[in-house]
Amino acid sequence: MPTSAGEPLLRVAGLSSGYGKIGVLRGIDLVVGPNEVVALLGPNGAGKTTLLRAVSGLLPWSGTVQFDGRDLSGAGPREAAKAGLVHVIEGHRIFTQQSVYDNLLLGAYDLPRGERAARVEEALDYFPEIAEKRHERAVALSGGQQQMLAVAQGLVRRPKLLMLDEPSAGLSPVLVDRVFVVVRRLRESGTAVLLVEQLIEKALALANRVYALARGSIVLEANTGEADLPNRLERAYFATARSND
Ligand SMILES: Nc1ncnc2c1ncn2[C@@H]1O[C@H](COP(=O)(O)OP(=O)(O)OP(=O)(O)O)[C@@H](O)[C@H]1O
Ligand SMILES: [Mg+2]
Repeated sequence: MPTSAGEPLLRVAGLSSGYGKIGVLRGIDLVVGPNEVVALLGPNGAGKTTLLRAVSGLLPWSGTVQFDGRDLSGAGPREAAKAGLVHVIEGHRIFTQQSVYDNLLLGAYDLPRGERAARVEEALDYFPEIAEKRHERAVALSGGQQQMLAVAQGLVRRPKLLMLDEPSAGLSPVLVDRVFVVVRRLRESGTAVLLVEQLIEKALALANRVYALARGSIVLEANTGEADLPNRLERAYFATARSND
């Protein structure tokens, strides 16, 4: 249950999804409240990316997905993004031959013309290191900066919920901390975040609540303030590893 009062921003209930005949997720129940940071953890291959893909309309699913009071049945990624649900996919996907600035403008493609430049500035404000390089082609950015550009591209839309799939993957420790600072700032500004992470301790330090996913099912749901959480998570992971043998 969300810790914040009232309706959740995102409500997923009884969701199943996969790739064609390959079922990956079974009966997923998950909520994200407005202003909440929720961590989604789990071993490799658990289905975390698949869950984000399903929720953002990149994969077909069955069950219920409600977002901001709307039923997202049949909604594609554009409709989800229009509703304020933005998914920054695993591994950055940016246009390397375009400038940093143009990449961000592309993120704002369907916003009113007069608003685009302001939205791009707003997003760049989170990432001074790429703001400096706004006129350079994205290929000139380091891998970590490209990852930041992908997050900034999501922020241009001023999302109500930002779903980040391993935003720290492949980053140097300094850049990892920068990404977590950005998530904290988003939380402070009232943006909800669903964060898939392998850096468990860092994710738990930032999140209000956590779900652990293993083999396509939610195996643990907790407030991050709960006692013994690291051990409980470990047991949830290990139980899965044993049943995989
Ligand atoms: N395009 C695909 N076609 C078929 N099966 C896939 C596809 N992508 C992922 N899978 C399978 O779905 C399952 C869940 O994968 P998914 O990528 O969602 O896991 P994950 O929790 O994000 O893992 P990781 O931590 O490695 O990113 C795995 O068994 C994987 O092999
Ligand atoms: Mg993944």
